[in-house]
Amino acid sequence: MVAAPPRAALTDIEVVPMRRRHVRGVMAVERLVYPRPWSATLFTSELAQCDSRRYVVALAPQSDRALFARKVVGYAGVMVTAEAHITTVAVHPEHHRQKIATHLLLAILDEARAMGAEAAALEVRVANRGAQRLYSGFGFAPVGMRPGYYAETSEDALIMWAHDLQSEAYGARLQRQRVRLSSPGGASGAPDHPVPWVKGRIGLTEVDRAGRGGSGSADDNGGKPTCW
Ligand SMILES: CC(C)(COP(=O)(O)OP(=O)(O)OC[C@H]1O[C@@H](n2cnc3c(N)ncnc32)[C@H](O)[C@@H]1OP(=O)(O)O)[C@@H](O)C(=O)NCCC(=O)NCCS
Repeated sequence: MVAAPPRAALTDIEVVPMRRRHVRGVMAVERLVYPRPWSATLFTSELAQCDSRRYVVALAPQSDRALFARKVVGYAGVMVTAEAHITTVAVHPEHHRQKIATHLLLAILDEARAMGAEAAALEVRVANRGAQRLYSGFGFAPVGMRPGYYAETSEDALIMWAHDLQSEAYGARLQRQRVRLSSPGGASGAPDHPVPWVKGRIGLTEVDRAGRGGSGSADDNGGKPTCW
């Protein structure tokens, strides 16, 4: 496996509740990271279901953009009924391995716990090993498969569950993730699994190849919601 250089975490992002005004920025990321992007209408409809849904966005540091136009660098959502279901997690391709998804998962899992969820589930492409690694850090473990779940590519989904969200042990797990927020990308020792369907991705190996590093620049379905 190729050793990749560390990539500084983007520590000064702000994670805030997603509002309709963010949907345009969300869609700009959505189109880059998913082969079958959700529509703006679907995001808006999710936001309207505020009794059971929580969506957050990560905004780029304020110094990079005027306050009114801060760039959306990631977003995540969760549906909480008796249990929590993570509906989406995505990060702008220029900012992978900078701990943005970790920030987002911490925010939505805090919300799910506050709403009383005891367990959380998600689906993830079998080939999406980077995301699986991310989720395993949050206590998600594979429990089964949904064959052909992703109809557009005939790919199977891995179903992952995390249990005992209200326990002290789970709180301690989240705390460990919080402590890792300022560590550089690659600090967990995970190699950089490629995400081939993402356009313009800069992960660890791309930082190396392009001679880029540091904090990175901050320039700029209609079906049942699911974590793709
Ligand atoms: C999956 C995704 C959300 C990860 O976002 P990210 O901000 O790069 O993730 P983080 O930097 O917070 O990663 C935290 C840890 O997860 C693991 N991880 C995340 N992406 C990884 C990858 N591509 N390869 C290997 N490990 C990875 C690592 O352990 C990492 O810690 P480390 O960098 O200290 O080693 C991002 O790749 C993405 O948006 N992909 C496209 C959309 C998608 O697949 N979403 C998931 C749908 S189920």
